[in-house]
Amino acid sequence: MGFGKDFQWGAATSAYQVEGAAFEDGKGWNIWDVFCKEEGKIFGGHTGDVACDHYHRFREDVGLMKELGLKAYRFSINWARILPAGTGTVNEAGIDFYNNLIDALCEAGIEPFITLYHWELPYELYKKGGWMNGEIADWFGEYAALVAERFSDRVKYYFTLNEPQCFIGLSYLEGVHAPGLKAPVRDTFQMAHNVLKSHGMAVRMLREHARQEIFVGYAPTGTMSYPDSSRPEDIEAARQHLFGMPEDPGSWTWNVSWWSDPVFFGEYPKDALDRFRDYLPEIRKEDMKLISQSIDFYGQNIYNGNRIRMGKDGNPEKVTRYEGFPKTALDWPVTPECLYWGPKFLYERYKSPIYITENGLSCHDVISMDSKVHDPNRIDFLARYLKCLKQSAEDGTDIRGYFQWSLMDNFEWHSGYAERFGLVYVDYRSQERIIKDSGYWYRDLIRGNGGEL
Ligand code: BGC
Repeated sequence: MGFGKDFQWGAATSAYQVEGAAFEDGKGWNIWDVFCKEEGKIFGGHTGDVACDHYHRFREDVGLMKELGLKAYRFSINWARILPAGTGTVNEAGIDFYNNLIDALCEAGIEPFITLYHWELPYELYKKGGWMNGEIADWFGEYAALVAERFSDRVKYYFTLNEPQCFIGLSYLEGVHAPGLKAPVRDTFQMAHNVLKSHGMAVRMLREHARQEIFVGYAPTGTMSYPDSSRPEDIEAARQHLFGMPEDPGSWTWNVSWWSDPVFFGEYPKDALDRFRDYLPEIRKEDMKLISQSIDFYGQNIYNGNRIRMGKDGNPEKVTRYEGFPKTALDWPVTPECLYWGPKFLYERYKSPIYITENGLSCHDVISMDSKVHDPNRIDFLARYLKCLKQSAEDGTDIRGYFQWSLMDNFEWHSGYAERFGLVYVDYRSQERIIKDSGYWYRDLIRGNGGEL
């Protein structure tokens, strides 16, 4: 199969991380607008108030995308920019911004992919309980309907949620992301159930209100698992490990199957239902029906994985990494195999076409004496990872697109601006953009449809 001729080569961003204009033109506050003002929460006291100022510079940014030859761009809508209170009154200035962005993308021949929720929960909804409140499925449905009504004449592709593992785990168990709470485990299972119902409601509302045929997916994340060898027992161990659930209730959100089995199979994984029974909310049949609305593709954010072998006791076990194992600036391990095995295992289990909705790394990028940004580590990383993705596609995994994270350096959540993930360097002092060497490398790769990998 390989990369088809319509393969969607793209890059991704999210609203809070790039837009800025946090308090302009009638936008409502979201939980990040509030959280970033809390002392000691974000590296260096940074905020997304200005970020990459994409709200004002989006035309220049679409120009950069064109120069990079992107075929697709994945971005998120800032819920409170178009619905300041989360529901009710529409902010037309916010709608105008996204309309202009979408028009610019279409003019440049770049396919827009909208993510509905990349962690920008309107503060007004948070005050009503946010994800804890069962009504959120209706609130999210109203928002999804508005997005479909206003944008679906031009936008055909949608992802409902980005990384529920993180926006529940990091936000409500670890408390390091907005709103910065440490909730009881029981509450986080309730929130997760509401999150999944909201996903289902959004799928339904997007389709009901769409103005043309649209394609809807989901963008969870996960650490992938890949086998230590080509022995069938190691492959089986990696598969089992990928779809297994953590033992510890305090880190339960880090898994694939609790978040994806309900969406595709209409049920939670049975062993986990048993293990976590003391923490579970009421789960009704009609909830599961709503959650498992049929979707058109599976989006997965993939950054790294664990090497797994079958242990002597017949259980999967992690292989310890050697000292000096390659890692990114953020200390994440470099494990290209995860882009071969991750999509393959997900495709086998869920039988849905795959989009890699995020993949990339942060590097210690600087402007060199020649005024350029040389990032050989990023080129090496992407080449290794994409080679594995290509092999996976050639071996039969149905992969439709790849979104590099990120189009440009941006606000990296609690790390502020300390981490640089972009293909384009942003000098935050002047908002000057400089395409990095990896950006030009990616442009050439897209031109050849990955042929040289
Ligand atoms: C998120 C992005 C984030 C990236 C790098 C993903 O977890 O979706 O918003 O910037 O990884 O940390």
